[in-house]
Formats: sequence, C-alpha cells, structure tokens
Amino acid sequence: MRAEENALLTQTSAGTPMGELLRRYWWPITGSARLSSEPVLPVRLLSEDLTLFKDKRGRLGLVDRRCAHRRVDLSLGIPTDDGLRCMYHGWLYGADGQCLDQPTEPEGSRFSEKVRLKAYPVQELGGLVFAYLGPDPAPLLPRWDALVWDNAFRHVGAATLNANWLQCMENSVDTAHTEYTHGHFFEYAVMDKGGGTGDEAHDRSVRAMADEFKRPHVKTEWAVTQYGIQKYRLREGEPDDSPDWTIGHPLVFPYFVRLGGRLRSELQIRVPVDDERTLHLDYFAYCPGPDVEVPAQDCAPYFEHPLFDEAGRPIVDYVVAQDMAAWWGQGAVADRENERLGASDRGVILFRKLLTEQMKIAQDGGDPMNVFRDPAENERIDLPVNSGPGPVAPAPSTPEEKGDLTAVEGDDAALRLRRHHVDRYSPALEGVLEVYRRYAEAQRAARA
Ligand code: FES
Ligand SMILES: [Fe+2]
Repeated sequence: MRAEENALLTQTSAGTPMGELLRRYWWPITGSARLSSEPVLPVRLLSEDLTLFKDKRGRLGLVDRRCAHRRVDLSLGIPTDDGLRCMYHGWLYGADGQCLDQPTEPEGSRFSEKVRLKAYPVQELGGLVFAYLGPDPAPLLPRWDALVWDNAFRHVGAATLNANWLQCMENSVDTAHTEYTHGHFFEYAVMDKGGGTGDEAHDRSVRAMADEFKRPHVKTEWAVTQYGIQKYRLREGEPDDSPDWTIGHPLVFPYFVRLGGRLRSELQIRVPVDDERTLHLDYFAYCPGPDVEVPAQDCAPYFEHPLFDEAGRPIVDYVVAQDMAAWWGQGAVADRENERLGASDRGVILFRKLLTEQMKIAQDGGDPMNVFRDPAENERIDLPVNSGPGPVAPAPSTPEEKGDLTAVEGDDAALRLRRHHVDRYSPALEGVLEVYRRYAEAQRAARA
C-alpha cells in the first residue's frame, strides 16, 4: 500500500474522504450512566472537540468545545434548566447551540440572537449516547438487536487507546490472530514469563483457556453481506457443522463486531477519537430468553478498564486487553506501506476494499451501507448470526449457540469472567453471574 492509500483509509477529519464516510453514521460517545454523575463532558470525536451536556430537564446537547465569547472550554460549564452556561461570564447555550442569555451584556441587548455554536444531534439507546456529525437529514439511529432486546442485563466497558480505529476493526476480520494473541501469547505472558500466580485454580484456567484458543484453524472464510462482513472459521477438532463455521459472526460495517449468542452478546465498538486514538466500547447484553428474568437495572453501568499497571506494564491477562496490545502495538497508525500480507489476511483485504467502495458511494452523494431511513426496517435489526457462507437469512440467535450452555455451568465459567474477561472490572459483575445462575437453573429444571 502506498502512503497516500494508508492516509485515505485512516484520516478521520471533516473534508477527508474517510472522514466524510464516517460522518454518515451515528457514533456512541459515552454511556448514559456516566451522564448521571457527570452531566457535562468533553468529547473528541472524528477529530472534533465538543462538549456533551445534560441540562437540568434531562435534555442532551452536543456543542462546540469552546464558548463563542472568549473561547473558554465549555466542558467546565454549568448545566441549567435551559442548557449550559459558560463558567467565565455565564453565556447560556441551548442544545441547538443557540445563545440564549448573556448576563454581562446591557439590559435589552439582542446580541445573543446573533450567536450560535456548532451543534450536533444526540440520542440515547440501550444505555449508550449516540451523536451524528454528518449532513442533513440525519438517518435513523440503527436499532441493532442487542441494543433493544427486552429482558437483557447490560454493561459497557470503555478504554481509550493510542491507535487509529482501523487497526481495531481490521482485527475483527483477522481470524487467525486468536491462536497466538489469546493462546500462545496469553500463556507465555501469564505463565511462562509471569511465572503463574501460585493460585492453582487460576493457573489451571489460564492453561485451559489458552489451549482452547491455540487450536489451529483448518478453514477460514469471509463473505460480504447486507450488514458488513460475515466471518467463518473451523478449528482443529471441530465438526463441519460447528456453528463457528456454519453460522459465523459479523463485522457490522463500519465500526463494530458482534460476538456470541444471545446469552452473552458482545458488541466491540470502535469509535475514532481522531487519527491516532480510539475509544473502544465493549457492550454486553446478557439475554437469557423469555423464561428467565434478569436482575433489575436502571441503566447499563459504564466502566473504564485499564490497559497498563501502576508500573506502566501492559496488562494482558484478559482477552480484550490482549487484542488491544496488538492494536497499539502496531503504532498510532499502522505502517501499511511496509506490511507483508499473506493468505490469512484475506479478510483484512476484503474490509479495506469494502471501505474504499463505500467511501466512493458517500463521495457521490449516496447512502453507504447501514444507513437506515425507513422506520419499518429499523424496528429491530437482527444480525445475521445463523447462516453459513452464501446467502444470509437474518434471524435471532439462540442461547444454545456456540456452546453457551456449557460455558454457563461449572465454576470455570464464573472464574473466567472474574479473572480473564473485561467483565472483571464491571460494577455489575455479580449481576452478570446471577444471570448465568438463573439461566443454568432454568435449564436444569427443563431437563428434569
Ligand atoms: S468566555 Fe464564555 S461567557 Fe465569556
Ligand atoms: Fe482477539
């Protein structure tokens, strides 16, 4: 790849071809839960500095980072009934960016009518706050299945890392990395280099998890579908009708990957902060089906998870942190000029081609993939997680998929969640384990 081609794929600013494609989508910028404790937040999205606020009547606004008066940071501002007041001279802005009051100007002045900040639409769904920075009219906010299922227990992990968003997304079509990143490397880092923990159950679970990941791939395949790229894999020891091969899982264009069945459904969402940083959201919906009630929840908790320990060493004993080490390990923007792609990189090549095609569609004024405008199409978008290579028949997934049942029962599953998944940092971890317990109980009762 030439330097210009790499720049084309990785730039996020307004006016660049990729920046314009990315502006056709609604982006999650934080969790709703975070706004209840911090109603005014600085946001950087697609290389733009903005301020997100919730006014005292609960309405959300996303406006320019700086006040129009003398350019003070509005994320230091004060939420009011009608909007956000700047901390310096108290100018007040509504959610649409209009200046509504200038307390230090003379009585009767109409100056405020002429002042308006840049402002973008914001909406909440499934515990996330979404923003749209693109041209009018804004499309519908897509109602992806896991965001809108009833009776689901949710939580959202977040980490900002020093890497362009495309590195994270390319990982989602880089099927083969699991053998090394989550198998050999995991075992080496924790057991061989780290010397184990001395806790027998812990060390046993590391070895067992690493062994599962180490299994070599026999076959891998990728197919462009209605929603993105469906990925299929068959590992050594698995029968040809293994759901990983016949069902696969989707990269949903352009910015997330959907993993797991309904019981533990994971959306790994990559939000471009700017050209060299990404906000990674791990969105989980635990949905055990109609017969098992999940623990009550006001709002999905939003928690940040660390990538480095106090000494600055990478933490690599949980799965997504291993991926993240590979992403920031490629540098802020991966050197695609000097990479050497092999046969296992066909998925990566396919994704780059799809991005280039969709960039052209946006440039020509069309709607790229996954821009929805028909409400009937958007009631709930069930992702295609139940068909093999070839035509895709969308249908909801079931908890039985992917051996979820075996993952639920036995202490090992709980131990893995407590130790080797990002859930370990969640304030809702016990709620997640309770979903599993209730589900396992219902399964036992059904069998009896
Ligand atoms: S700088 Fe914001 S009110 Fe003066
Ligand atoms: Fe991975």
